[in-house]
Amino acid sequence: MIQRPRGTKDIYGKDELIYKLIFDSFEQLATTYNLKKIITPTFESYELFKKINGEQTDIVSKEIYRFTDQSSRELALKPEGTASIGRAIIENKLYLSKEYNKLYYIDSMYRYEKPQKGRLRQFYQIGVELINELCLNSILDSIVLANSFLKKIKIDEYVLYINNIGSSEERNQYIKSLKTYFSKFKNQLSEISQKRIDTNPLRILDDKTDSELEIVKNAPKIIDFLSNETKEEFSLLLSKLEKLNINYKIDYSLVRGLDYYSNVVFEFVSTSSSLGSKNTLIGGGSYLDLTKTNDSFKINGVGFGIGVERIFEILKSKQDLYIPENKIDVFIIFENNSQYDQLQKIIYDLRFENITIEFNYKIKKFKKGLEDAFNSKSKIIIFQELNQHKTNNWTFKINNKNFEVNESEIKKTIMKYLFEN
Ligand code: HAM
Repeated sequence: MIQRPRGTKDIYGKDELIYKLIFDSFEQLATTYNLKKIITPTFESYELFKKINGEQTDIVSKEIYRFTDQSSRELALKPEGTASIGRAIIENKLYLSKEYNKLYYIDSMYRYEKPQKGRLRQFYQIGVELINELCLNSILDSIVLANSFLKKIKIDEYVLYINNIGSSEERNQYIKSLKTYFSKFKNQLSEISQKRIDTNPLRILDDKTDSELEIVKNAPKIIDFLSNETKEEFSLLLSKLEKLNINYKIDYSLVRGLDYYSNVVFEFVSTSSSLGSKNTLIGGGSYLDLTKTNDSFKINGVGFGIGVERIFEILKSKQDLYIPENKIDVFIIFENNSQYDQLQKIIYDLRFENITIEFNYKIKKFKKGLEDAFNSKSKIIIFQELNQHKTNNWTFKINNKNFEVNESEIKKTIMKYLFEN
């Protein structure tokens, strides 16, 4: 049999309910922030990601699923959501209306990475972008929202890391000094970091192995390149977080792997043992000119992406996880087709009233039908045991007690029981 591609998964049963719990919990919270949902295409032009995410970034240079269609268009599956949001805002002129300045999305993303626990090639992200009103309050709102989501979903083993990577001018000065600094120690760096000295020296700072080297730890710090104004704003943000009892750690090596960020960047990193090394749950930050084009409008904003699979792995490992399930209200056992014909209309009327009704499509012997009814854990079981029944009434079994109901009373009896209990 043909198998699913590496790094993808089929989600069903209890797992699907955990995904639903994650999405529903986020959407409830999103409503209280008055966020509007946006759905963008699964694929975009490759050029978009090259321009917005940066050609040198891992996700564009190594991980993107890129293809040409039958008309030779260069396309790519979305590796992340922010670039599409930028495009959609410009293309649909969403910047003209305040209604669309707080957006969220729930989407599949695609990255050609080495699959492991919490790292897939097709994965879900819940993303938020608060656009066009970038200031301390919107940055704070986005960090608090991400933090509240983790609290709401009852994840508390994590650390919030935060950094300020400055404006592009400040960062350029910093990058220059990093280039000079790392060039002096080139031989001590790994091959990939040596290449990054010219292309993207910031990435050397958060490289898994090289970041442990003394020379990398002693590299110049961004803080020394920030203007007083930037520094003051940053400490104001931190004091606001403290006021809200949100713990954080400043991490000067946190640069995030995407080109569009400016100033504040942050990551919520899990300390739970249920995730391996892939433990960044949420990553985000602010941007000043998202689309970096000569478009009529420059998009500033702040946002983040939640890695749904990583949240999923933590929740799944919890012993006391409560997963709301859609319980079956009524199970009806049919022993022949004429019984089915009798109740058919009632079934569809009740389902229209949001009552969940289950029955076997294929007629079964009573005993088998009863077994299915018990397994379904439905609140009410209805049947007419043919061998036993003398009248045309139907038997209701509720909490193992039986009583008889005339066909004309079935609907009323079900409604009465369900709404009283
Ligand atoms: P990102 O850090 O690339 O940021 O991804 C956000 C989150 O998605 C990560 O922290 C991680 O939890 C999850 N993630 C990333 N790659 C994978 C993977 N292969 N498998 C499973 N989960 C993964 C962004 O994508 C930005 N667009 C976030 C953002 C929005 N910044 C501003 N606005």
